[in-house]
Amino acid sequence: MSQLVEGRDVSGPVGPLVELSDTHVVHRARTGGLFARDRVYALTGADLTIAPGETVGVVGESGCGKSTLAKVLVGVQKPTSGTVSFRGRDLWTMTPAERRLAVGAGTGMIFQDPSTALNRRLTVRQILRDPLDVHKRGTPQQREDRVRELMSLVGLPKALADGLPGQLSGGQRQRVAIARALALDPDLVVADEPTSALDVSVRAQILNLLLDLKERLGLALVFVSHDIQTVRRMSDRVITMYLGRIVEESPADEVTDRSRHPYTRALFSATPGLLDPIDPIPLVGPVPSATRPPSGCPFRTRCWKADSVCAEIMPDFAAASSPGHRFRCHHPVQDGQSTRDLVAQAVSTVPEATAMADTPTQKPTQRPTQKQS
Ligand SMILES: Nc1ncnc2c1ncn2[C@@H]1O[C@H](COP(=O)(O)OP(=O)(O)OP(=O)(O)O)[C@@H](O)[C@H]1O
Ligand code: SF4
Ligand SMILES: [Mg+2]
Repeated sequence: MSQLVEGRDVSGPVGPLVELSDTHVVHRARTGGLFARDRVYALTGADLTIAPGETVGVVGESGCGKSTLAKVLVGVQKPTSGTVSFRGRDLWTMTPAERRLAVGAGTGMIFQDPSTALNRRLTVRQILRDPLDVHKRGTPQQREDRVRELMSLVGLPKALADGLPGQLSGGQRQRVAIARALALDPDLVVADEPTSALDVSVRAQILNLLLDLKERLGLALVFVSHDIQTVRRMSDRVITMYLGRIVEESPADEVTDRSRHPYTRALFSATPGLLDPIDPIPLVGPVPSATRPPSGCPFRTRCWKADSVCAEIMPDFAAASSPGHRFRCHHPVQDGQSTRDLVAQAVSTVPEATAMADTPTQKPTQRPTQKQS
């Protein structure tokens, strides 16, 4: 039976909305001397499925590939190899016109900084009309009506329709960016750090707006943020990335205390709950570079559990005990093991971890072969 939300059928087709299969993105490095490597492995072997209506959070340190993943999902970034399917069709075997239609109308993207994402010379009305005009949606009058509807949807006063982005507050600008992302009724919205450029006082308003819209419109939402506790609270599922790899996918309510990958546990231990604060799990080894990823498991230069197997073989995904939870680790955290235990374990192996830090990184064993076109 179809499910109607605000007049839209959001029951969607059976099957995933977007699917990545062994997707790689390799950039030419911006810098590099004569003998330096000239490739950046921004995304490596990503397998991921986004279902209609779900919220998927993406966490990981700066440079781990979150924005690359986000851009690949909405067809802004062409993968170097692997596939990106939207509603079962490979985006990059479509003609450019088909792809523009599928991606332009089916997905919306919200960027970190609305002051650079919006054209400063266009009024709010023009910004919101632009996608409707490009995709020839309805009559001119219907487009005007849609602009008004979008402004009301995101809580922008009508009086701002003729304002320029520079005349709006940061929060209002981000509301315009959200309205633009929703203009064509997409099924998927990808928000990449949508609040990090905003004042703390308006962040919660924008997050609440996104959550409200997601519920009302039945959207799938991919949410990228450094604020991992907000990601956890907003999401159904949390993806952990490390050095271009997806290393764990966990139901959001398990990610803090029941995630099985050592890196996910270390990441979440760094923002402990107020009621039971503990020191974070110490990570002491060198942070590897995306131009020279280590052999085997990418986390092995900092992982307190790493051994010689980790240095040689990239672990495959293993299933955790609950559905939808999987991780890539040879020596995972035991199910139910407390973070306090892990801190003690990591502290007790610090000398070994320091020794690992002295081990030179080896030639990577798994590399995509194609260059980005
Ligand atoms: N156009 C590009 N050319 C070369 N390298 C790039 C390019 N875009 C991204 N990279 C590199 O790819 C890697 C992943 O970048 P990405 O922006 O996806 O990381 P991120 O997780 O979003 O980081 P942040 O949290 O800082 O936004 C980084 O090493 C980055 O320097
Ligand atoms: S595979 Fe080894 S190095 Fe990688 S996270 Fe697991 S224990 Fe640590
Ligand atoms: Mg980013």
